[in-house]
Amino acid sequence: MAGRLKGKVALVTAAGQGIGRAIAEAFGAEGAAVIATDVDTGKLKGLKAKKSLKLDVRQPKEIAALAKAVNKEFGGLDVLANVAGVVHHGTVLDATDQEWDFAFDLNVRSMVRTVRAFLPGMLERGRGSIVNVASVAGMKGVANRAVYATTKAAVVGLTKSIAADYVGRGIRCNAICPGTVDSPSLRDRIAAQAASSGQTTAEVEAAFVARQPMGRLGTTAEIAALAVYLASDESAFTTGTIQVIDGGWSN
Ligand SMILES: NC(=O)c1ccc[n+]([C@@H]2O[C@H](COP(=O)([O-])OP(=O)(O)OC[C@H]3O[C@@H](n4cnc5c(N)ncnc54)[C@H](O)[C@@H]3O)[C@@H](O)[C@H]2O)c1
Repeated sequence: MAGRLKGKVALVTAAGQGIGRAIAEAFGAEGAAVIATDVDTGKLKGLKAKKSLKLDVRQPKEIAALAKAVNKEFGGLDVLANVAGVVHHGTVLDATDQEWDFAFDLNVRSMVRTVRAFLPGMLERGRGSIVNVASVAGMKGVANRAVYATTKAAVVGLTKSIAADYVGRGIRCNAICPGTVDSPSLRDRIAAQAASSGQTTAEVEAAFVARQPMGRLGTTAEIAALAVYLASDESAFTTGTIQVIDGGWSN
């Protein structure tokens, strides 16, 4: 089935690689006019999108300028996919104040900023779907993910708050909680963990796979398929939900 997002304007953050890129591609394949953004424009090369633009979600001025330009050119957004996020490795005792601040800024406040910039236009038009990428680590205890889990739990709270506040005004807001998904940053984490532990990368990867009861990593396309559903009118009765997609990890 194609055309599930026909006529919709969708903005995706962190669209350069991994889950964000897969979401941007899937939105485009379903007929959306996609505004693909990333802090690293080099990573947007080769991505088919209506617009490919630099956006650092940590920079309020960049977000405000983009919102102005999008509203002028497209009359507003139908779909906002907040994907940008960073994984901190370590326990609560391992993280510095700076690491907490950085993670909260990139994982949580970035979403607050984009919502502040684009939600007013959605409210004016009386429609909009916001899709926030959280993590199953924000729902279940995962070793060495203290900072990450705390920020992703905050994303869950933010998602539910937005859904509750605007449910009567045509706005839906849902979160996706992926398990372990094969992405460039996961490959980086595997390499870093191998380097620090003396294990081979194959051994570290096997440990990541072993925590998924399905015995494999998720794919970015699988996460994107869920994002398409949440962005589309097929999910018109769905808001404030936390959609777990984790190969049975949290079951
Ligand atoms: N990969 C996983 O296993 C997994 C699991 C659960 C949740 N997630 C979440 O999914 C999201 C994407 O993760 P991924 O692993 O697919 O991607 P990734 O980490 O491989 O890529 C991240 C992208 O974000 C961009 N980025 C970094 N800082 C940015 C900024 N300030 N502004 C805009 N863009 C910025 C990077 O340039 C890069 O293109 C993150 O929020 C992550 O926490 C990932």
